[in-house]
Amino acid sequence: MSSDDILAVRDLKVSFTARRAGRKYRVQAVDGVSLSLAEGEVLGIVGESGCGKTTLGRAIVGLVQPDGGNIAFKDDDAIAAGGAALRAMRLNVRMVFQDPYASLNPRRTIGDSVAEAGDINGIFRDRTDRSAMIASTLTAVGLDPSFATRYPYELSGGQRQRAGIARAILPTPSVVVADEPVSALDVSVQAQVLNLMMDLREQLRLSMLFISHDLGVIGQISSRVAVMYMGRIVERGATRTVLDHPLHPYTRALIAAIPKPDPSKRILGAIEASEPPSLFKRPAGCAYAARCPLASDRCLVDIPQLRSAGADDRALACHNV
Ligand SMILES: Nc1ncnc2c1ncn2[C@@H]1O[C@H](COP(=O)(O)OP(=O)(O)OP(=O)(O)O)[C@@H](O)[C@H]1O
Ligand SMILES: [Mg+2]
Repeated sequence: MSSDDILAVRDLKVSFTARRAGRKYRVQAVDGVSLSLAEGEVLGIVGESGCGKTTLGRAIVGLVQPDGGNIAFKDDDAIAAGGAALRAMRLNVRMVFQDPYASLNPRRTIGDSVAEAGDINGIFRDRTDRSAMIASTLTAVGLDPSFATRYPYELSGGQRQRAGIARAILPTPSVVVADEPVSALDVSVQAQVLNLMMDLREQLRLSMLFISHDLGVIGQISSRVAVMYMGRIVERGATRTVLDHPLHPYTRALIAAIPKPDPSKRILGAIEASEPPSLFKRPAGCAYAARCPLASDRCLVDIPQLRSAGADDRALACHNV
């Protein structure tokens, strides 16, 4: 962990036991991810559906138990330290969820949901202080304080995601893990909610892990990006460099698949042309080999490790680039 890092994740592994056709399988959703987040930075995590983005985010905020690796917050290996260090990390590293409807308890008022972390950690002096903090947090996300007494079903999608954001910033955290915070929203409100998040990031000096399957959004808001494929990071670097000069064949295919304004200029990339491999039968070598135009015999047996590939934290996991 370097001195200006606020969060460092090392070799994180998360697996699930899943059943399919009567048999039990181990699904390795996150397979040895290392990343660091500098203070004030937005790090984008991009990759297609099922590659483990949400699981990575949930492990970082403590909602799923990793089965390997460690998570350091401000120099403490918080999980190993447990106790006060772990509680501090839980309060300081918070999540905005992909689906604002599922993330708010339908039977609790918006005010109670927003105050949840504060209630658990006993941060409110009294009822008046609690109400005032709920009101100011709702105002900060662009909702009228009267929303405190409403229920999730009374809110529009955009308002619900604003409430979800309010819930993540009371009390003010240091790091927000934003899991596709706008992908479930109507196109007309996506930009408003993204702008709100960027304003809050500046006002509250948040560091952010921004998860998305959309490289266009990542390009707008993150300074660095990590590209995930089947539970692993396959490329990492400054966002502009990665978007302008992608190295990994998977990153190139993702970029080729970004919708172009003129459909005739659109390239049908490998991503759209083929199904992603199933986590139920993880290949022995590089997980991307079956779809990769550069794959060689070595790729079928030997998993490429992430190695340094230039200045500014550029890294790549490929045998043939
Ligand atoms: N609780 C769980 N039990 C069993 N398997 C799970 C569980 N949660 C996730 N998985 C599996 O782990 C893999 C990664 O899922 P995850 O939700 O992290 O992907 P994702 O990149 O966020 O996808 P999406 O873009 O669709 O949100 C998937 O194969 C998923 O089915
Ligand atoms: Mg997800």
